[in-house]
Amino acid sequence: MIFLMDMQMMLLDMIYFILRNSVRVVLRPRTKPIDGELVLITGAGGGLGRLFAQEFCKQGAEVVLWDVNSSANEQTAKLVRELGGQAHTYSVDVTNRDDVYQNADKVRRDLGRDVSILVNNAGVVAGKRMLECPDELLERTLKVNCHALFWTVKAFLPQMKAQDHGHIVTIASVLGLFSTACVEDYCASKFAAVGFHESLAHELLAEQVEGVKTTLVCPYIVDTGMFEGCKIRTEVELFLAPLDPQYCVEQAMNAILIDQPLVCIPRLTYLPVLFRALLPWESNVIAYRFMGSDKCMYPFIDSMKPKLESAPTIEVA
Ligand SMILES: NC(=O)c1ccc[n+]([C@@H]2O[C@H](COP(=O)([O-])OP(=O)(O)OC[C@H]3O[C@@H](n4cnc5c(N)ncnc54)[C@H](O)[C@@H]3O)[C@@H](O)[C@H]2O)c1
Ligand SMILES: *[C@@H]1O[C@H](CO)[C@@H](O)[C@H](O)[C@H]1NC(C)=O
Repeated sequence: MIFLMDMQMMLLDMIYFILRNSVRVVLRPRTKPIDGELVLITGAGGGLGRLFAQEFCKQGAEVVLWDVNSSANEQTAKLVRELGGQAHTYSVDVTNRDDVYQNADKVRRDLGRDVSILVNNAGVVAGKRMLECPDELLERTLKVNCHALFWTVKAFLPQMKAQDHGHIVTIASVLGLFSTACVEDYCASKFAAVGFHESLAHELLAEQVEGVKTTLVCPYIVDTGMFEGCKIRTEVELFLAPLDPQYCVEQAMNAILIDQPLVCIPRLTYLPVLFRALLPWESNVIAYRFMGSDKCMYPFIDSMKPKLESAPTIEVA
């Protein structure tokens, strides 16, 4: 009897959330205020990281910027300060556990308070055919895009839980939900990031840590240079062009500020996720071929060739 009542409650709740989320597509809920929050962004010197820093600053938050590339990181800090915001830079290699833990302590000591929003944004891709790619480069992708999530979350989640206040944001990719050819390292790492994030989100809910929110951001190709050259069929590209970085970050910010658990940008990319789950593998292969998304990474890999050759001393963490 209790079982049937529970089931009835569950079904009603499910319907409630389906309706609520449908309404939210049109009527956006109010965003939460984050002025005065301390936001830590990894990979803050990069295309998206820099824009996240600026957007969080516009919302009145103080930002802590982590990147291995200190000159790029300083540039981001400069832009934030020009907006009148407060930025603190740290040169951190997020693949190095000790580096992460030590710098987390340093942030705490320097600023005298805890990070309340963690944006795991640092990411890399090997950009080479797997069979021709140095092993270290393949490994690095996993270390930056996946392992680093363990270290940063271990460093900052305990205080968020203690205060029952915080937000963990993971910048994954649609390539963490479906895949394509020639980016094995990247897809492996982003599927891992999605799995990590979802498991963490479930853990917080199971433990009823209601004050710590999570948002998983899965963008399609963004025009930051990371996947320079990547190309699908021209006719299809009219509907699915590489995203403008500013648009991508604005959409992600909106999701974060309404505590949305998952966002795919643009919305059209929910379709391949659905098709992957519903249709036979072969049907998806046919659709990929039709859209030119089977070989979309070929021109990207080609364009990376001269770059990787002219830089023989690739920094490997
Ligand atoms: N650009 C895209 O098409 C796209 C699409 C979907 C998802 N993403 C994801 O968005 C995130 C940001 O991408 P982006 O386009 O801004 O890339 P980007 O290359 O412009 O920036 C990445 C930044 O991360 C930093 N970084 C790399 N390794 C690091 C390490 N070990 N420790 C600390 N910092 C490190 C780099 O120095 C760089 O500043 C990544 O996670 C990426 O996978 C990008
Ligand atoms: C660091 O960033 C600067 C400026 O954005 C860029 O020119 C340089 O190539 C980057 N260095 C590395 C090692 O990625």
